[in-house]
This record gives sequence, structure tokens and C-alpha cells, in this order.
Amino acid sequence: MKPIQVGLLGIGTVGSGVFKVLRRNQEEIRRRAGRGIEITMVAVRDVARAAEIVGEGVAVVSDARQVIANPAIDIVVELIGGYGIAKTLVLEAIAAGKHVVTANKALLAVHGSEIFAAAQRQGVMVAFEAAVAGGIPIIKALREGLTANRIEWIAGIINGTTNFILSEMRDKGLDFAVVLKEAQRLGYAEADPTFDIEGVDAAHKVTLMSAIAFGVPVQFDKAYIEGITQLAATDIQYAEQLGYRIKLLGITKRTDKGVELRVHPSLVPAARLIANVEGAMNAVMVQGDAVGTTLYYGKGAGSEPTASAVIADLVDIARLHTADPEHRVPHLAFQPHTLDAAMD
Ligand code: HSE
Repeated sequence: MKPIQVGLLGIGTVGSGVFKVLRRNQEEIRRRAGRGIEITMVAVRDVARAAEIVGEGVAVVSDARQVIANPAIDIVVELIGGYGIAKTLVLEAIAAGKHVVTANKALLAVHGSEIFAAAQRQGVMVAFEAAVAGGIPIIKALREGLTANRIEWIAGIINGTTNFILSEMRDKGLDFAVVLKEAQRLGYAEADPTFDIEGVDAAHKVTLMSAIAFGVPVQFDKAYIEGITQLAATDIQYAEQLGYRIKLLGITKRTDKGVELRVHPSLVPAARLIANVEGAMNAVMVQGDAVGTTLYYGKGAGSEPTASAVIADLVDIARLHTADPEHRVPHLAFQPHTLDAAMD
């Protein structure tokens, strides 16, 4: 079957990770998807710089609409970020009948209802595993693995930048501003880091999880949001002395009055697993009525962890749109020789 063709809009930290991982694990990914996944077109502002990353055989253009208008492109991956042009382009891609993969939590948390409705009308997918908790497959866990459950609540460390800042302030006694700069250098922080430190990024992510878990509309405007800018080093030290860690948690909960949606610094008993999630790592706890409490831990930001989630969405779409029914069931993609090799 011919490879599924992908066009990228933007190629920053995540986009370059997508190229690297797709190249490195090409054969395995092809087997699991049931067909090849090829990025054939990229739209970027700096065409010369992008040409170095993408290598030969990929058309690099400066106009995103050329990607959307290309009839050969099956999936558009939006990695521009923000609510502005990204929204226009995502809606145009959907209108052109393309599936969309995005890591843009801000866009979906604020305009998700409109975007998902447009996708439904067109019969295309908008997949966003990379938008929440980076490399942790929490969207798939909520949608698939926990689908039998009545979800009671979700609580998570879902912003790597603030968790990194809180960890470094506690362990090294470093100043807030110094650690924030380091988080930016490492590629964790948003283009506008106030989204991280004011809790907005975490609120975008918890809004999306809430919509999936409770079947409510994406209602970012209903979230209570408090970041970490008012915290002093002494707050962190006092909490330690009392046996607690301060963590910025995103919480969504079923209540008698409706669904709660909030982000704020929380005191977590130091012995809890989630209290020991350090640096830019993320962790999400989900309480389901059948399964009990489950905990998902991993890298919530960065080039390859986020690329891992983007590619998982590409594979999902490729599987659903393959003519070969065998590959619509993922685990049948394993090959017998894998076992033989393990026996050697
Ligand atoms: N700025 C985000 C974070 C990036 O720090 O977690 C990943 O969404």
C-alpha cells in the first residue's frame, strides 16, 4: 500500500524530533502502521534552515496553504502554536478533507468545540496526543484503556517548566528567574513563558483531559487558574519542613454540581509518588470506578518525547485508513521473527 503522506506546518523543536524519530524507527513504524508514513512537504518561515533538518526529497515551502492545497497530502501536522494563524490553517486543512495532528493545546482548549465540530462534519480526525503531557499517552489511556470506567477525577503535574522550576528552587536553592531561563534553553517553556508560570498551559491541558474524561465541552474559560509566580523559596522550605512538596497540579473532578476544573499550587504529602516527580517530568493520576487509581509518568516536554506522541497519532490515522484489515488491529503487526531474535 502506498505510504500515507504528511505535511508539516512549522518545524521547531517538535518538528525536528518528528523527523529524527520517523527516520530512526522507520521500519518498525511502517510495520505497526501497516504502511509507510512519509513527510513529503514542510511549510516554514525560514526555508534555508528547515532544508538542513529535513534532508532530500521533502518540499520546503514558505506558504502553509501550499501544503493544505496539495491533493497528495493526507495528514497535516500543525506545529505552529498559538490561537491565531494556527486556527485558520487547521480549519482550512479540515475543510480540504485532511486529517489534522496537532500539539497545540492552547488552540484546542480555547477553540476545540469549533474545530472538532468541523472535523466531524468533514469526516476527518483531529488527533492531539502530543498536546497533553508530551510523551505520556494519556489521551489514549483516557479514550481507550480506561474507556470502561466512570472517571471520578484526574490530577496531574502537566507542565514541565513549572515542575522543573519548583524542583530546582527546592534542591539547589536557585532563583526563579534563573531556572526559568534554563527551562527556556532546554526547550520546555512555551514561546510565551507566562503561559507556563501562570498556570495557563496546565489549564489548557486539564481542560482537554476533562472534556475526554467527562464528555463535557472544552471549556477553558471555566477553569480556575493560579500559577507559581507568587511562591517564594521560603514557601517551598516551610512545606518541606511540614512533610509536603509544593506541586502545580491540574485537577478536574466530577462533583454533584458539575465538573470542577482548576490549576493551582498544591501541598502534596512528600511520601506520595506524585510528590517525587522531579524536573520537567509529568505525571497524571486518574481515578476510575472500575480500575481504581492509575498513574502515568514520563517526559512532558522536549523534542523527541513530544514527537513520540505526534507519530503515535500519525500511526493511528494510517491504521484506520489502510485498506488492509489486518493492520487495523495494532497487535497483529508484530512479526514472528521478533520472538526468534529474542531467543538467540
Ligand atoms: N511548556 C510546556 C511544559 C511544554 O513546560 O510542559 C509541553 O507542553
